[in-house]
Amino acid sequence: MTDVKKNIPKKDEESHIDLALRPTTWSDYIGQEKVKQNLRVILDAALKRSESSDHLLFYGQAGLGKTTLAHLVAKEMGANLKITSGPTLEKMGDLAAILSNLESGDVLFIDEAHRLNRQIEEVLYPALESRKLHLVIGKGPGARTFSLDLPPFTLIAATTRANLLSGPLRSRFGASFKLDYYTIEDIKDILKRSAKLLGVEADPIALDMVARAARFTPRTANRLLRRVRDYAEVNNMKTLNEEAARKTLAMLEIDQLGLEPTDRQLLTTIIEKFHGGPVGIQTLAAALNDDRGIIEDVYEPYLMSIGLLNRTPAGRRVTPEGYQHLGYKIPEGGML
Ligand SMILES: Nc1ncnc2c1ncn2[C@@H]1O[C@H](COP(=O)(O)OP(=O)(O)O)[C@@H](O)[C@H]1O
Ligand SMILES: [Mg+2]
Repeated sequence: MTDVKKNIPKKDEESHIDLALRPTTWSDYIGQEKVKQNLRVILDAALKRSESSDHLLFYGQAGLGKTTLAHLVAKEMGANLKITSGPTLEKMGDLAAILSNLESGDVLFIDEAHRLNRQIEEVLYPALESRKLHLVIGKGPGARTFSLDLPPFTLIAATTRANLLSGPLRSRFGASFKLDYYTIEDIKDILKRSAKLLGVEADPIALDMVARAARFTPRTANRLLRRVRDYAEVNNMKTLNEEAARKTLAMLEIDQLGLEPTDRQLLTTIIEKFHGGPVGIQTLAAALNDDRGIIEDVYEPYLMSIGLLNRTPAGRRVTPEGYQHLGYKIPEGGML
């Protein structure tokens, strides 16, 4: 079930869609050509030397394909992928247990790496640099430390916020890759593949509408496609046609640019309460009664990428295009 108003599927449904539609080969991994090319070089070189690859960092917005890429890298290296994440590693011992169980050639994937706490990060440094795990046994004056040699392994870390990673951690990756938003054409290709996997026929017009509303993000595209499929199914439509796409987007209150109610509320708040800006992020978060992190990570990147919002040193401003999109008149005398 979906919380229709907010278009937030429950976690298990989300992971189920992700799993069913997740590319398992490089050729199914559409777009991001530069990332694939550069990765190819690193992986080929490691394979040639029969060594583990350098540690890798993937960063970019949620749903752009970081986890998928980690799976592909492990597969390419013929390695086991062990998965954990910043927030689930609570104690130093949690990470020590994972590290001490690594086998030669394993790939360790740490998702949401910006949420690792500093103490745990410090366990990671010697492991990444010299493949050592330093353990402290006992407490107080009787405590003893000893170190364990680790087998060769590759760490892949993923984060939506590379700027929140500590400097020391960032410097220990051999290469970092930024995943960018996809082009509409790439999103359409992804949707075509997904429709096939879901066993549904889709009109090009319907796919085009879904692609344009998908915020240049594969996960969002797939999620919307599923909603359109549900609509068509309930209404006994054989193909996903324009009507199914249009009605589904309307029901979800998603407009042609992919803006959801929360995005529009952010823009209207700046326009109505702050004369279009500039307004500081703290003030904006308070006015919206929303979390600053969500505003910065989820709403703003997309609004900026389609040119409706600007981040300036003085604060956030709605652009003339933003005024227009929401049907507001651009203020007399133009924008400041
Ligand atoms: N390059 C791609 N080509 C095709 N589908 C993709 C691609 N990247 C992501 N996806 C789809 O989007 C979903 C979310 O990707 P995921 O790797 O989980 O994103 P992230 O880890 O960055 O949040 C995947 O399950 C897959 O269905
Ligand atoms: Mg992920």
